[in-house]
Amino acid sequence: MCGGIAAYKAVEVCRGLVDAGAFVSPVMTRGATRFVGTVTFSALASEPVRITLWDEPEPIPHTRLGQSADLIVVVPATARLIGSYAAGISSDLLTATLLATRAPVLLCPAMHTEMWEHPAVVDNMARLRQRGVHVVEPVAGRLAGGDVGSGRLADPADIVAAAVAILSVPADLAGIEAPATPGPVAVPGDLAGVTALVTAGGTREPIDPVRYVGNRSSGKQGYAIAAELAARGARIILISTVELAVSRGIEIVRVETAAEMEAAVLARAGQAEVIVMAAAVADFRPKEIAPHKLKKGAGPPEVVLEPTPDILAGLGARRRPGQVLVGFAAETASGESAEGDLRSYAHQKLKTKGADLIVANDVAAPGVGFAHDTNAVLIVGADGYEAEIPLASKAEIATAVVDAIARTRHDRTRDMRPATNEEQP
Ligand code: C5P
Repeated sequence: MCGGIAAYKAVEVCRGLVDAGAFVSPVMTRGATRFVGTVTFSALASEPVRITLWDEPEPIPHTRLGQSADLIVVVPATARLIGSYAAGISSDLLTATLLATRAPVLLCPAMHTEMWEHPAVVDNMARLRQRGVHVVEPVAGRLAGGDVGSGRLADPADIVAAAVAILSVPADLAGIEAPATPGPVAVPGDLAGVTALVTAGGTREPIDPVRYVGNRSSGKQGYAIAAELAARGARIILISTVELAVSRGIEIVRVETAAEMEAAVLARAGQAEVIVMAAAVADFRPKEIAPHKLKKGAGPPEVVLEPTPDILAGLGARRRPGQVLVGFAAETASGESAEGDLRSYAHQKLKTKGADLIVANDVAAPGVGFAHDTNAVLIVGADGYEAEIPLASKAEIATAVVDAIARTRHDRTRDMRPATNEEQP
């Protein structure tokens, strides 16, 4: 706990963690003790509060705390703490413990909007995120002193939920029976250090300066996937035709047409270990773009279409080793013959695009696909992997897609490991 006005809410987080079954070792900064009494925190946590490196009888508490922790949650994380931690400065028990741990760290920043948006704080947060630190973003709301803005500590219940999610060990890794629905293959943070390029939204192909050929894609699914990848530690390059709310630290490149998207993707594909082509890229575009607005009086124009470059297929043909390539297939399969079957479309697309995973959805089904907040998908992998996710929020679908990506990466590293002596012929 750091010394910010939101410190009183850390008491509730502590209580929630204890209720969830955690053993909580409380550490407060000197500043925090000005906001909350040590007795309160000691009474609710699993052991007495520690504040300094010099408390008897334990002379070096930071190493014990750091080494024994499964997770360190900082509530509230102040600008000072964020700066010290980013710079690797150990000036009190809390910062020393953060440097003495290999456990995941969850920061819950809270400060005034001016501080939260200060370039130094923004840089420090970006640096920490790149190192795989988890963050529960502050929210907009009323701040101390009556101001309104972003920087208010997230809801304690959300912080507890994030902590529990980070600690939940996947069924297959824990050796317990897997749940019926596909669960996570690894803990959040499993993509730390990975660069992921995600495309989102529908492209617009101009007919004239005011009109275009487009599609109904909202970009919501692509953004949800970018958010999930970021939450699990990946650095994100988001190439999008739309601008939706996004967590800080995600780099957005705005494009409009398939050609612009292709140029943006190809320029950055070399940096990415994971590429998710969630965008609905037009397959055809007007061959000629009228330089001036076409006049109604001239009668209906004849718009001749030509194919656009297939970005995904191009990436599939010349991918870098180890890169995981994910394509989407938005189909209208319902009511059609066996040929229209989503599964066969998806498998066909795996081959034609040279992708590792295809996420297929039937956009004609109720609540599915474009512009909805829900989706239902079938994920198929070139390695035979298959997961069917019934109607769920786009965030839940994103988790399933990122699970499939993590699984593909995990299997690939296993396959790439050198054989042991016994395994050699
Ligand atoms: O069959 P279709 O080309 O529409 O396949 C859809 C998938 O291919 C999506 O992942 C989409 O982002 C990608 N795509 C592409 N370039 C195109 C058309 C689609 O990368 N020109």
